[in-house]
Amino acid sequence: MAKIIDGKAISAQVRAELAEETKLFEKENGFLPGLAVVIVGDDPASHVYVRNKGRACDEVGFYSETHKLPKETTQEELEALVDRLNADEKIHGILVQLPLPKHLDEEKILLKISPDKDVDAFHPYNVGKIMIGNYSFLPCTPAGIMVLLERSGIEITGKKCVVVGRSNIVGKPMAMLLLHANGTVTVCHSRTKDLAAVCREADILVAAIGKAEFFGADMVKEGAVVIDVGMNRNAEGKLVGDVDFAAVEPKASYITPVPGGVGPMTITMLMKNTLTAAKQAVKRG
Ligand code: GUN
Repeated sequence: MAKIIDGKAISAQVRAELAEETKLFEKENGFLPGLAVVIVGDDPASHVYVRNKGRACDEVGFYSETHKLPKETTQEELEALVDRLNADEKIHGILVQLPLPKHLDEEKILLKISPDKDVDAFHPYNVGKIMIGNYSFLPCTPAGIMVLLERSGIEITGKKCVVVGRSNIVGKPMAMLLLHANGTVTVCHSRTKDLAAVCREADILVAAIGKAEFFGADMVKEGAVVIDVGMNRNAEGKLVGDVDFAAVEPKASYITPVPGGVGPMTITMLMKNTLTAAKQAVKRG
């Protein structure tokens, strides 16, 4: 029987701490941390995420603004908005919701966001800092996972960590954070030979491939810590992770559920990055 890592409870705890820190910040500086969220087009899932980001800002006491742009928005118009937000003193963090409509150049937009306001940590400058291990902004999902591990009292030093998935948003930065925490890290992907055997070696297994209930009991070592980053719909339309929870839970020592595991932490870490950005703006003067 595994201990269930309650991402909702840990997320609520961290948000309460951030709300306290924000009160203090306002008292000392006379203004609030500010986040601008930009969304282009009408993808319903993206609109739900963006709404949740606005609500999280309200919860921790930030100033926030949401810029909803039509799907026909041009590259020039979007870049002009990012320029304005870069120069806006009320705004400390800028998030452009991905994916963008196909006619827009995502990479160019992410490069436009000032690295000082890049609370997603997607700008190559911040990605580079993550590699070096000298970072101010942490990529939100991997950072949320590190908090879940820490607050569950899970030791990383010397542990075999297997990350499955090599995306720029999750897999690659996750591997770096585990490495900085002294884990021995293996990154697997769709071309990995005998994936199950590699996964069975893991003391800490991070599943981030986006395939519903792909990881079964045969891929998990007895007593492993299993972190499920997946958010998929199964054949019945139910929200499930990358891990077959019912099969794996009896074998694991700790496991994150879906929903209610990693998901709630991601936006919470965005709030933390925004507060960090505001503190750094004060330091720069
Ligand atoms: N779309 C899905 N996840 C994310 C994220 O973490 N940041 C941004 N900007 N867009 C996303």
